[in-house]
Amino acid sequence: MADLSVSMAGISFKNPIIPASGTFGFGREYLDYYPVSVLGGMSLKGTTLHRRAGNPPPRIAEAPMGMINSVGLQNPGVDYFLSHELPKVADEDTVIIANIAGSAIEDYVESVRKLEGSAVDMIELNISCPNVKMGGAALGSNCTSAGEATKAVRKATSKPLMVKLSPNVTDISEIARAVEAEGADAVSLINTPIGMRIDIRTRRPVLHNNIGGMSGPAIFPLAVRMVWQVANAVKIPVSGIGGVTTFQDAIEMMMAGATTVQVGAAMFQNPMAPVEIIDGMNHWLDEQNISSVREIIGSVQPW
Ligand code: FUM
Repeated sequence: MADLSVSMAGISFKNPIIPASGTFGFGREYLDYYPVSVLGGMSLKGTTLHRRAGNPPPRIAEAPMGMINSVGLQNPGVDYFLSHELPKVADEDTVIIANIAGSAIEDYVESVRKLEGSAVDMIELNISCPNVKMGGAALGSNCTSAGEATKAVRKATSKPLMVKLSPNVTDISEIARAVEAEGADAVSLINTPIGMRIDIRTRRPVLHNNIGGMSGPAIFPLAVRMVWQVANAVKIPVSGIGGVTTFQDAIEMMMAGATTVQVGAAMFQNPMAPVEIIDGMNHWLDEQNISSVREIIGSVQPW
């Protein structure tokens, strides 16, 4: 069997596959399906300093080859996460990534301080949620505020820091370079591109928030393009996210330059998707006589 292990931000992952934040709860929800220790890592539900009820419903809309959500970072808050959620997965032999969101930079800083000394292995700084008015993508959409948020959080934590980037910007490579310059150890991309659906009977948007973040196979080519551009713009590793559904998609994302691959919306149709992707990747590497998955990272040869 091929060697599936990769290293990102100084952390060893037994394989590159990570369920994406917001699609995997706090990990314990999946313990009935399979041992989560088969996963390379898991990025847990976006967590804020204080609990949030999220946006009013409807918060989910169907879309061709995907969906749109405007959940609005519903979560129980970092203290509850530490006392009730993290202990349920802390002993699992996989990399635990806490996805931290906030309304202001101070919130992010306070949240990551609370995580120091916890079983969390890595922070994913979520400055790209499109569904909240303050913080989120508002911070991550320009180089100055993205850099300031990264710098402040970098100072507040000793844990490896990955910054999750928004595709809803003019040039995602610029933002990636800005967060790299302020101490990010890795970047993850893409968070969801913003979309909209309208109910033609009522002439109202389907989502109460009017707009929301698109996910699913429809966004895969967009994600591959941005991963490729960012991987060529920065020296830190990239975690590729966006519409990955099959092992072939994961391999394509790695060829574009991703060191790890996050699987999101695919799990809503098939909770076993990450496990099947790991398995399929393993067999494909054997068929191709490739001894280590690391050989395919960034191996695309542009025309
Ligand atoms: O609305 C949400 O909770 C989405 C979060 C995100 O995309 O980061």
